[in-house]
Amino acid sequence: MILAPSILAADFGRLAEEIARAERGGAGLVHVDVMDGHFVPNLSVGAPVVKAVRKATKLPIDVHLMIENADRYIDAFVDAGADWVSVHVEALPHLQASIAHLRARGCRPGVAINPATPLASLEEILPELDYVLIMSVNPGFGGQLFMPASLDKIRRLAGQVRKRGLETLIEVDGGVDLSNARSLLEAGAEVLVAGSAVFSQGDAEAGARRLLEACL
Ligand code: DX5
Ligand code: ZN
Repeated sequence: MILAPSILAADFGRLAEEIARAERGGAGLVHVDVMDGHFVPNLSVGAPVVKAVRKATKLPIDVHLMIENADRYIDAFVDAGADWVSVHVEALPHLQASIAHLRARGCRPGVAINPATPLASLEEILPELDYVLIMSVNPGFGGQLFMPASLDKIRRLAGQVRKRGLETLIEVDGGVDLSNARSLLEAGAEVLVAGSAVFSQGDAEAGARRLLEACL
């Protein structure tokens, strides 16, 4: 299991220190949320922040692109140091080409899927993905309530991955906290993204550690 703290909830004035604390607490991946104010109703950060994160840690960086025309920006994020990159199935008309491009650039490609989008939309692309990011909130903001229906969606996806003999990882993002972390792993998730649960208490090391302990 990999814990991926989302820096959206971190103190941006002390970003390197926040990441170092989360890393000491057991984080295995740093999740960076990129929002464009079009695909989602909020703006966040771009490639320069990924570049700063790259300098702050040796952990792999997981960039979650909640943007339109992602193809236009993929190279900038890869050049900035992204290791894992997810694009939204709802946002890209030529998803296969986008995934192939990410792989050609040496990234681990993933596809993110909104709560109302059926798993069937991943049927053809699934064998080409390193991971699927199941959104357990509508994307756009940190600190939202976890949608319980996501558990069944994760279970169904895990079943499909197994049945097809694939190695696709399942990542879950949105409202992950002490109360649901363990059941998410039991349902088949392997990567847990958590923003508020790691950073909001002011001590990211303790936040990350508590979350990992809740998974035991
Ligand atoms: C939501 C983002 C999430 C968010 C998670 O649009 O994709 O990664 O930052 O934050 P929490 O854990 O606070 O729900
Ligand atoms: Zn995210």
